Amino acid sequence: MLLELRDVVTRYGEIEALRGISLEVAPGEIVALLGANGAGKSTTLKTISRVLIPAGGEVRFDGKPLSGSPEDVVALGIAHVPEGRKIFPGLSVVDNLRLGATPRNAKRGEVQRDVEEMFALFPMLRTLNAKLGWTLSGGEQQMLAIARGLMARPRLLLLDEPSLGLAPLIVTDLMERILRIARDGTTILLVEQNAHLALQIAQRAYVLETGRVALQGPARDLLANEEMQRAYLGSAVRVAAPA
Ligand SMILES: Nc1ncnc2c1ncn2[C@@H]1O[C@H](COP(=O)(O)OP(=O)(O)OP(=O)(O)O)[C@@H](O)[C@H]1O
Ligand SMILES: [Mg+2]
Repeated sequence: MLLELRDVVTRYGEIEALRGISLEVAPGEIVALLGANGAGKSTTLKTISRVLIPAGGEVRFDGKPLSGSPEDVVALGIAHVPEGRKIFPGLSVVDNLRLGATPRNAKRGEVQRDVEEMFALFPMLRTLNAKLGWTLSGGEQQMLAIARGLMARPRLLLLDEPSLGLAPLIVTDLMERILRIARDGTTILLVEQNAHLALQIAQRAYVLETGRVALQGPARDLLANEEMQRAYLGSAVRVAAPA
């Protein structure tokens, strides 16, 4: 397993946001982490990236327990793209990308090659190259945030609700790009509120409910699961029904 969580407990003061989470991600997989508002999805990602320190349990990466600071975790090969596209608004697109490479102490030529690779993966970023972060649309900012995460050349990419607030066409495009990132060899743990969407590109998924894993399995099985349909896939079915 590339990533393993065993009985992980994470608290915000008195609030136990994660109440013993166990999950696994194998190399090359896209695994979705689903659940309603406040279920603990973002807390799980923050615990993996050591933005939060767990009060119990264990997180293992590549067979070794994760410890230390968020910077240490990035250096080990985990990139976390947080909720809400935290790009640098006053920096150009290309400078945002270059900053993504700082954790690996890469040479200039190497960084330039990787910037080119990101332009190949997200062609619109090439066009936007010199533009400042804040002038980008929501979809463009999200692509930039993901590309910046990839500039660290992670083995594991943690994505927190990349589709949030984006128009449906852009979301489809984004999901295709996430698939391509995985095919190119980066393992992905994808947090999504849109279960339908995530289950279309993930091989497996975990559903969180108030800090616990309520359901888990292959994406195919979860799409057909009755409890899943009722609790998480119902709204998408209603949207698709004729008015
Ligand atoms: N900084 C914080 N201080 C106190 N409680 C928090 C904090 N952040 C999150 N929580 C609580 O922890 C629980 C899990 O929150 P978390 O953000 O992980 O949920 P989520 O599944 O990502 O939800 P969403 O879909 O809304 O992003 C919730 O009850 C939330 O209110
Ligand atoms: Mg969240």
